[in-house]
Order: sequence, then C-alpha cells, then structure tokens
Amino acid sequence: MREELLAFVSRHGTLLEPAAIEFLLSQRDPIAKVEGFLDSCAETPFLVRLEDIVAAAEIGRTAGGRPSRPGPQPPTSAPAMPASFRRQGDRAADNDPDVRILRDITGRSTCEGTLEDFTRYFRHRFAVLGGMLRRRRELAGSQDISKARRSTREVRMIGMVADVRTTKNGHRILELEDDSDRVPVLLPADSSLAAEAVVQDEVIGVVGTVNGKGLVIATSLVRPDIPNPKAFGGANGHARVAFLSDVHVGSRTFLEDRWSKMSAWLGGSDDTARSIRYLVVSGDVVDGIGVYPRQDEELAIDDIYGQYEALARMIAALPDRLRVILLPGNHDAVRPAEPQPTFPASIQKLFDSHVVFAGNPCLLSLEGVRILAYHGRSMDDLVSSIPGMSYQRPLDAMKAMLRMRHLAPIYGGKTPIAPEAEDHLIIEEVPDIFVTGHVHAAGMDQYRGVVLVSASTWQAQTPYQKMRNIEPSPARLPIVDLGTGQAWIREF
Ligand SMILES: [Fe+2]
Ligand SMILES: [Fe+2]
Repeated sequence: MREELLAFVSRHGTLLEPAAIEFLLSQRDPIAKVEGFLDSCAETPFLVRLEDIVAAAEIGRTAGGRPSRPGPQPPTSAPAMPASFRRQGDRAADNDPDVRILRDITGRSTCEGTLEDFTRYFRHRFAVLGGMLRRRRELAGSQDISKARRSTREVRMIGMVADVRTTKNGHRILELEDDSDRVPVLLPADSSLAAEAVVQDEVIGVVGTVNGKGLVIATSLVRPDIPNPKAFGGANGHARVAFLSDVHVGSRTFLEDRWSKMSAWLGGSDDTARSIRYLVVSGDVVDGIGVYPRQDEELAIDDIYGQYEALARMIAALPDRLRVILLPGNHDAVRPAEPQPTFPASIQKLFDSHVVFAGNPCLLSLEGVRILAYHGRSMDDLVSSIPGMSYQRPLDAMKAMLRMRHLAPIYGGKTPIAPEAEDHLIIEEVPDIFVTGHVHAAGMDQYRGVVLVSASTWQAQTPYQKMRNIEPSPARLPIVDLGTGQAWIREF
C-alpha cells in the first residue's frame, strides 16, 4: 500500500511529508483519504503535511455536522526520504549514446547592452510568461492594469514585479506593472499571501479588489508554474545519468582522492556503475583564474589552460562508454553574463571526443529524456531575497524557479544577465530532470513530476565558505535512471 500511495501522490505532482505517509497508512483507505484532501485544495500543494490533512478533516467534520471520533494518533517519527527515490533497479540496456543539445545561447548571442536591448529583453520575458499566465483558469478575463485599477469589482491582472517591500505592520506591497500602467498591490499581513516568496522582476498574476485609494488588495497570486503534473518521459531501457558539478579543478581544495574513488567505481564491475552512460557536469568545472580577490593563494594550478588540461586527463581516464556533457559556470573561462555560451575552441580542443560542450543554461536530451541544466548562480540572489531560503536547501530555490518558470528572475543582483533578444532564462519547456550546482550542496526531490537534482561538488570547504559558515556536501554523485526517473545519491 505504501508504494501505491506514493505512486498516487506522485501522479498528482505532490509529495507526502513522512509523518503524513504514516498517518495515511493507518487509515482504512489511505488513497481515498489523500484524494479527498487533494480535492479540497484549490491548488495542489508542493508538500502535503500531516497537519493539513488533519485540519482539512476537522473542517469536513464540522461542515458535515458529524461529531468527531477519536481516530488513530498521527505518529511523530519520520522516515528520511520519499520511497519513490530509493530503488536502484535493473541493468542498463545496450543503446548507442544519444545526446542532443536542444537549446542554449552558443553562437546566437546578439546583445550589445544598449537600452533597446534591455527593453526588448523585458518585453520578451513579459510576453512569454504573461502568455503562460493568461492560459491559467484563475486568470481568465484578466485586464490591463490601466483598466483593472479603475474597476470596482474583483480584478485579475498580469504584471511584472517592479518592487517588493514590507510595511512596518507586516503587510507586503508589490508594485506591479505592464505596458499600460503600474499599480500597488497589497498582500495583507493577516493572509497567507504575506508569506509568499515574491521577487523583483518576476511575472505574476494577481486576483483582488481595488480599494478607494487605488490600492489592489490581493486575494490570490498566480504563478506560471507547472499547472498540470507531468509523467516522467522515460527512455527505453535503464541507462543512467550521473550528475557532477563544481569540480573546481586547479583549486588546492579540489578533492582528488574522492574523485579517484568515484572514477575507480565508474570503471569497476558494479552493475549500477556500468549502467551509467552519461555524466552531466553543471559548471565551475575548473576553479579559474582571478574569479575573486587573492584567488591565486588558493590555487594548485595557476594557469587556466593547465586547469582544463588536468580536467581533460581526469575525464579521459573515465570508461569509454561515458558521454560527458560540460557546461560552464561562473568560475569558467567564458563570459560571466548569463546565458553563457559554451567553452571556446581553444579549451574544447583539449578534450577527447567523448565530451559534448553546452552553454549555461542548456536544455538537452539524453535518449529522449529532457534535462534542463543550469549552473545556479541565481541562487545567490534568491537566497538573499526570499526569507527562509538558504544555501543548504537549493531544492526549495529550484521549486521556486519552476513555479516562476524562470531560472534567474532578479535582474541587477549578483547574477549578471545579458539582455539577449530573447530571454533564454525562461523555463519554456517543462523538463523531465532539472539540475543545478553552484551552491556545493547535494540533494534530490521532485516537483510536479520533474526530478530535481542539486549536484554536489568535488571541492572541500574553502576559506571563503568557512568565513560565511557555508558547509558544503562534497563528493556525492546523484544518479537518475533514464527509464523510470528513479533517483538516488552515492557518496564517495
Ligand atoms: Fe562552485
Ligand atoms: Fe558557481
């Protein structure tokens, strides 16, 4: 029943808190119970908590006028991880490698940084994300802001967040704008909206009423989101992909011994290791030169080509069956502004033909399974803008990106963004797997059918991280089965 229950909630694009799983399993019909709960929710929650199920049941009983009976007590202890992420499964089929780079900026950058570029960039962002929102049932009949702000009835509108602030009474105020006008929107302190993670420059839908002072009092916020949970678009067979990131070759803190262990395991006889056909490396593949002040004191290899040559040797030592997809990050020798094109020819020529080069971000296909790979620099801005976000919990930031359908919504923060003709940081297509790096944390989860991977690092804690109290989780190898989407992490 546990497996059926988890499969049921997974199909509905949500997760169960471990305590909620145990509670439901103690009920006569766990699936009917959770189905009833999900039906009672206006929107499918990220995570179903035990307290929500209990509260909904209380409301149901009150509404039905039936006296409540003492039921089984919800347990308080919790198993560690959703069970659907545990199985390691069957051997890989012997397919030919199939890697396709579907989308990145390489060779398509047109931006010169002019004022026209900025205007065009934001228009494109607004058009695409606004289009997604217009298709949402909750925003049917939405109006331009100039019209909506004069209305006396409930209004629905779509805009870009020009500013977010919190008043001294705990209300939050957004300045929402579109081509026609700009309006302040109040998220009342006594509503759950006040706790919503809203960031500057995201495109959002608002439902609310306009008060006498021209202020919109919001009753709900609508994100472009993944409106319908999707099924994992599995490949034939059970080839696996493993994810690396932030290798930082050239740094004194690169973990050579742990890399060697991983490399030996990949080359050994373990069935899981032999089923791994692809490695996706999500940026910061080397430590770089001059990325931050006095970096030279922390380098073991102080020549940029020397760093890439060392990495090329490490990759050449991996088994021949592997295809390695390399993306740049903010430490790599490409332009820092995102979207980043892939590595220049002078670096590519150092590697053998098993390496496929991609830009950052990149949408790629492995045997038909679509992977959105992004280095994750925007985590710096999301962590500092959203209360409760942290470097230790990148999966929360990844879910926020999917809800906003944007990898780096905040313009003008720590993430440099090139105003290209099109906004390549929009998540136009919903991937099967979404992977990021940059924060040097390892983790896995799923959101509405998308497998989420935070791809660890192969660098120990740096003096900078120590100063900022950032504890990395290095030398973890997340692995995903391309046939089923099942995922797990192996530590070295
Ligand atoms: Fe890094
Ligand atoms: Fe990074």
